[in-house]
Amino acid sequence: MNATRTSFKKPFGNSDQIMEFKNVYEDARRAEAYAKLEFPGTYYLAYRDLPEIISKHVKGRKAIDFGCGTGRSTRFMQKLGFDTIGVDIAEDMIKKARQIDPKGEYLLIKDVAFSQFEKGAYDLILSAFTFDNIPTEEKKIRLFEKLGGLLKGEGCIVNLVSSPEIYVNEWASFSTKDFPENKDAKCGDKVKIIVTAIDDKRPVEDVVWPDEDYRETYKKAGLKLIETYKPLAREDEPFEWVNETKISPWVIYVLRKS
Ligand SMILES: C[S@@+](CC[C@H](N)C(=O)[O-])C[C@H]1O[C@@H](n2cnc3c(N)ncnc32)[C@H](O)[C@@H]1O
Repeated sequence: MNATRTSFKKPFGNSDQIMEFKNVYEDARRAEAYAKLEFPGTYYLAYRDLPEIISKHVKGRKAIDFGCGTGRSTRFMQKLGFDTIGVDIAEDMIKKARQIDPKGEYLLIKDVAFSQFEKGAYDLILSAFTFDNIPTEEKKIRLFEKLGGLLKGEGCIVNLVSSPEIYVNEWASFSTKDFPENKDAKCGDKVKIIVTAIDDKRPVEDVVWPDEDYRETYKKAGLKLIETYKPLAREDEPFEWVNETKISPWVIYVLRKS
């Protein structure tokens, strides 16, 4: 299967710059490495507060894990008691998810295609880090509109993303020191980061999307922002925190249909 590449024009100074974005997760070696990843260090902080956030905002048990990768986030939701389908566009990631959890439900989907899902049927859609890899506002809006359409009236999207700060600091499980150019990145620009917690040390390419831009994108997609969380680590937690106690590497948005 060919990797999903998106070419797009980005206004740059007085001219339009053509950018190309490739989903780095459509790669067998990365899938192999990612499959061994659980919740070490900085990832622990991403997931730490999700059970409480979800139990505060979500009533039913029917869920989709959008961008499930090798199924870590899907298995996390299943443990919380959600009847969860994991979906992803990367075949290698879905293959690994099925190997690790043969009883789980994992679907390979086409980009921005959700026709196999019943509309208005889901209590929760979790998206953990997926929007870090969605390059343009147009595509983010289309995806949020489609995902919003799958929610029940009181259903929620929980969108966990990287904060712009993650790309310009060092962390227990990530490094960005080799990419000083990240600090000049504006909304929609590509940034690089190395996941030090896995064997595959090739940089991951993401797209930076600051908080104020996410808020605009949600409005345009017909979503209402209910709450925003920026988790900070605590000294008494069993990890060697680097900046996590002072700067939040993650942002968690809780959204409903407007
Ligand atoms: C960083 S991984 C996160 C995987 C998982 N949520 C976790 O926490 O371990 C992001 C995943 O989003 C997937 N992804 C990117 N764009 C997508 C899209 N348009 N639709 C579905 N999945 C997508 C990638 O293929 C990748 O597996």
